[in-house]
Amino acid sequence: MSQYPSTAPGQTTFKLNTGAEIPVVGLGTWQSPADEVTKAVESAIKSGYRHIDAAWIYGQEAAVGKGIKASGVPRSELFITTKIWCTYHRQPEACLDESLKNLGLDYVDLLLIHWPVPLEKRGDEKIPLNEDGSRAIDRDWSPEQTWELMEKIPATGKAKAIGVSNWSVPYLEKLLSKAKIVPATNQVELHPFLPQHELVKFCQSKGIVMQAYSPLGSSGGPVLQDSLVQSIAKAHNADPAQVVISWAAQRGVVALPKSVTPSRIETNRKLIELSDDEMLQLNELHKQDGKAVRLVKPNWGVDLGW
Ligand SMILES: NC(=O)c1ccc[n+]([C@@H]2O[C@H](COP(=O)([O-])OP(=O)(O)OC[C@H]3O[C@@H](n4cnc5c(N)ncnc54)[C@H](OP(=O)(O)O)[C@@H]3O)[C@@H](O)[C@H]2O)c1
Repeated sequence: MSQYPSTAPGQTTFKLNTGAEIPVVGLGTWQSPADEVTKAVESAIKSGYRHIDAAWIYGQEAAVGKGIKASGVPRSELFITTKIWCTYHRQPEACLDESLKNLGLDYVDLLLIHWPVPLEKRGDEKIPLNEDGSRAIDRDWSPEQTWELMEKIPATGKAKAIGVSNWSVPYLEKLLSKAKIVPATNQVELHPFLPQHELVKFCQSKGIVMQAYSPLGSSGGPVLQDSLVQSIAKAHNADPAQVVISWAAQRGVVALPKSVTPSRIETNRKLIELSDDEMLQLNELHKQDGKAVRLVKPNWGVDLGW
């Protein structure tokens, strides 16, 4: 038996602490060009996805919204996430309003604080910098203050659930010591080279659903080249991407693979059933020499508690 928590394979949704169901596989949209993401979203929903992961900072929410509309699937059947960008920590609802306008929606199912790093608001600048080139952190504002403002949003009906992204255990402990609403999810980089065992255990003990971003290892999907991942895929006559997405799902973690390639989009949603031994091997893969890696690490200039 695996020493790590596992859930029934084939399960297609997890329950959030709001009572809502979140589909276990969602389509990622970061770095999907605006002229390709509409088709990607449309084909994903038409092939059975009900969950799309967007963000204000990706700059193409309008194209994502077009894909949602083109799918023809009723809004009530979809689960749409967006994220408050760092320059909006003092006014998260204003960022959400822009996202809703871009997406052409009245509400999102999940609203996340993208990073626990407030940046100064300087006009339309997305990443304001100091003269020395470092990021212009808003040092008079804390992520906990942002969460207090986030807590007012569900009552407006513009977001059904609120959560966080890129929060470490120390950051979560600080947040939970003050929060009136427990975040519904924590979305972080998570794949077999960065399995986040401690964070998954902590979040699951608090009823926070974990979401895996960059589940394939981000651009180019480097995790899919791993020989263990490939050998497990071969044994199941499956694609390596199905192995790592199913591994996340069997740990009770939502996976958000990004693709603009319709055949991959379709395959990525199909979960396979991994054995306890395969789960254990994937859980331990990061311990091999040189395997452990964090691929998404913007130079914020603050200690994120990782
Ligand atoms: N909250 C955050 O701070 C944060 C940070 C990063 C990402 N995210 C979210 O997580 C999503 C996923 O992460 P990601 O975009 O970094 O990377 P990813 O999903 O791990 O990997 C995407 C890459 O894998 C390729 N790919 C997809 N399916 C494949 C398959 N079946 N076989 C081979 N290659 C495949 C894609 O190529 P093609 O597109 O060319 O098919 C693309 O190059 C993002 O899009 C975003 O929604 C959130």
